Amino acid sequence: MRHDHVISAKQLSRADIEAVLDRAAEIDRDPGAFADTHAGKLLALCFFEPSTRTKMSFDTSIKRLGGDAVDMGPVESSSVEKGESLADTMRVVEGYADGIVLRHPSEGAAKLASEFVDVPVINAGDGAGQHPTQTLLDLYTIRENAGLDDITVGIMGDLKYGRTVHSLAAALTNFDVRQHFISPESLRLPRNIRFDLHESGADVHEHRNVEAVLDTLDVLYVTRIQRERFPDENEYRKVAGEYNIDAALLESAKDDLTVMHPLPRVDEIAPDVDATDHANYFEQAHNGVPVRMALLDELL
Ligand code: NCD
Repeated sequence: MRHDHVISAKQLSRADIEAVLDRAAEIDRDPGAFADTHAGKLLALCFFEPSTRTKMSFDTSIKRLGGDAVDMGPVESSSVEKGESLADTMRVVEGYADGIVLRHPSEGAAKLASEFVDVPVINAGDGAGQHPTQTLLDLYTIRENAGLDDITVGIMGDLKYGRTVHSLAAALTNFDVRQHFISPESLRLPRNIRFDLHESGADVHEHRNVEAVLDTLDVLYVTRIQRERFPDENEYRKVAGEYNIDAALLESAKDDLTVMHPLPRVDEIAPDVDATDHANYFEQAHNGVPVRMALLDELL
């Protein structure tokens, strides 16, 4: 990869993406071959927002490469509570580690951090902005299940605040993918993202109901309504629970439809889907390790 920092999926070309996915596939086949390739490297984990998968899979990935991680720990027990700026925290952490993984509630935080430090900054989610490493593992999962060209992908749920959606939609424009966006009117893709998609010449459609396109889809990517980003709890309640995928609904889907979700799920996918051949979200989460190992291998 030609980049020092991984801030947005928009910076990733098809060649960048394929290089990471190919390397991840190599790691998946023989993880032991990479066991000591990054001995002595330290990765800083700075999470200013909750995380299970992203943080643990970065931690696992650097350790599986022979390196180690240092964790800033909960925000409440860090100097942020004393009023330290993000720029200062980043300048301090840069002296401790060879790379920084940053998750932050403010859009643009990772970009800002990258302007203050020389070690690679990896955006692990910036508010409702971007989540490019989730996108790499999403693309890996799509490629394994459906291939990445001449496919139809439905992306459903909170398209307004969902950063995994914003990153995935941008990255898919590198491939021959028909994109169907399914959401309530109030949670449509933001205007600037729709603009970017149209500018890129992507084949993009919007719907209110998944039934309109379900039988054409190769992949259905379901997302959680991002409750924590709603300025008004009443607005959240209006749309909460509106979308629900269950096994009965999927009877009208293609037999080889792949259902994905970045997780955590709340009630968007009923537990009865888990036992169907469509369910792929746990494998998707597991793919976070080989993909992040491949990314760290390129960056560090
Ligand atoms: C996502 C996130 O943090 O944006 N989680 C993740 O990293 N897998 C999705 C979400 O929180 O809904």
